[in-house]
Amino acid sequence: MLNDERFYGHTALIDEEHGVETKEGPNPAIFDPQLFREHAEAILPTLESHLADHSIRGLKLVEPAILLSLAKDLMTKEQGAVVPFDREKFKAIIDLYIKTGIQVHSPGFMGRQFSGVVPLAGVVDMVSSIVNQPSSFYEAGQLPNVAERIMANEFNQFIGYQPDRFTMITTSGGSLANLTALLAARNDKFPTVWNEGLWAFEGQLRPAIAISEEAHYSVSRAAGILGIGENQLVRLPINQAGQIDITKVPQALEAAEQRGLKVFCMVASAGTTSMGAFDDIDQLADIAGTKDIWLHIDGAHGGSLLVSDELRHKLKGIQKADSLTWDAHKMLFVPSPCSLLFYRNKEKSYAAFKQVASYVFEKEPNIYTEFDSAEKNFECTKRPMIMNLWVLWALHGRALFSNKVDHLCKLARHACRILEKEPDFQVLHQPESNILCFRYLPKELDNYSIADFQVEIRNRVCKHGQFFISKVDIHGESALRVVFMNHEIKMSHFRMLLQAVVKSGQQVINEYQQHPKQ
Ligand SMILES: Cc1ncc(COP(=O)(O)O)c(C=O)c1O
Repeated sequence: MLNDERFYGHTALIDEEHGVETKEGPNPAIFDPQLFREHAEAILPTLESHLADHSIRGLKLVEPAILLSLAKDLMTKEQGAVVPFDREKFKAIIDLYIKTGIQVHSPGFMGRQFSGVVPLAGVVDMVSSIVNQPSSFYEAGQLPNVAERIMANEFNQFIGYQPDRFTMITTSGGSLANLTALLAARNDKFPTVWNEGLWAFEGQLRPAIAISEEAHYSVSRAAGILGIGENQLVRLPINQAGQIDITKVPQALEAAEQRGLKVFCMVASAGTTSMGAFDDIDQLADIAGTKDIWLHIDGAHGGSLLVSDELRHKLKGIQKADSLTWDAHKMLFVPSPCSLLFYRNKEKSYAAFKQVASYVFEKEPNIYTEFDSAEKNFECTKRPMIMNLWVLWALHGRALFSNKVDHLCKLARHACRILEKEPDFQVLHQPESNILCFRYLPKELDNYSIADFQVEIRNRVCKHGQFFISKVDIHGESALRVVFMNHEIKMSHFRMLLQAVVKSGQQVINEYQQHPKQ
């Protein structure tokens, strides 16, 4: 442990006359490079054994009051002086951090759209934290801005936008990417709103956004934020597979017009959250094109299928979309957040934020400021999130990602085949990506509520601690949802999960038969 006396207070001497410091600033030892090595080395073995732990387990929820107390016990009570680094306490905090999280790289983790990251990306993330180069301005983060340009071009090979016209920015999460794209769409179609605010809509048809019944909540939330209002969302009906029913779109748009709505933007999903379903981008783009509607694709989940030669066809027509959200922190296995927002037309990306700020924005871009993204994104100080992705891409190449994406989607298809052979299970769709939804419906279920039954099974399976799965409403009724995000999962694990589902289900039935609800 470093026990430097410099920890204990402000050692700087102030030249009273000139008001400047003549010696060192406060607590210099906190910034000691050797101390950094000590910090990092203290937890490397812990992280290594965390990564090496492939036991099958989900999540054990700790009561918040208990965790609060454990966390508070690890805090110093000292208020007056800076306390020296305490290696043991630091290790205890990191242990608590790890132990109370979902074991994201365990084969028992099948519940959410994030998973274990490629560990190298975590190392790059640490470098980003130490060198601290925010990436909205070239002068603050030179390599991150160059890396953004490189990755934009690399990924555009799979999208197919005109190379000299498109652009890409990074945002902290897919929700912010969706909001930013919808803002650009609104300002493009209603150019006076930025200055006039909602007054600009007065006397016009009400601006509306057409979205799938299955759209992620960040899309409907964006309508609220942008002054469009949730009531002006035109819900496009879906088919059994969870995709927008193309045959019903013209009719839905017409009905909206008759209600006094002007649909200026349509949002399709490339991978819905609930079923991982892909809307028919090609046909939706044609419809949008004839009506001068901005087409945004929410590919937060499934945009990553673009890197796969086998699965890219799911996003057929993507080059016709005006904008695309793509989360690398989902299926490209880098630490969150790392979201990419693509625009087909670079000029339109500037519509999102029409501002003048002489302290940062240049009227005439030069060779440096031309790389700035601040005018196009909400965040001013922004994490150089692209570095995690770019370094993996630079060192390992595309196959690292495409192999993983192919593998996870294949797991979902195999799991579906297994379920189809089980008479007590109902498969709800043919998986288009790595998400599979189903119900356990044994004959003994009798008149127990199907919806309550699925929820109860999910809760019991998770509580048992071996598997972590989610629940979702499919066509209005609860179902079990498995997300194959984790490359450690084998079919044997999925079979074990089914056993756990059956066991929990049978327990519920037995309890119900003994004590039927009134
Ligand atoms: C389809 C879809 N869109 C948007 C989001 C939101 O992305 P983020 O969590 O990165 O904000 C999600 C998250 O799961 C999603 O599944």
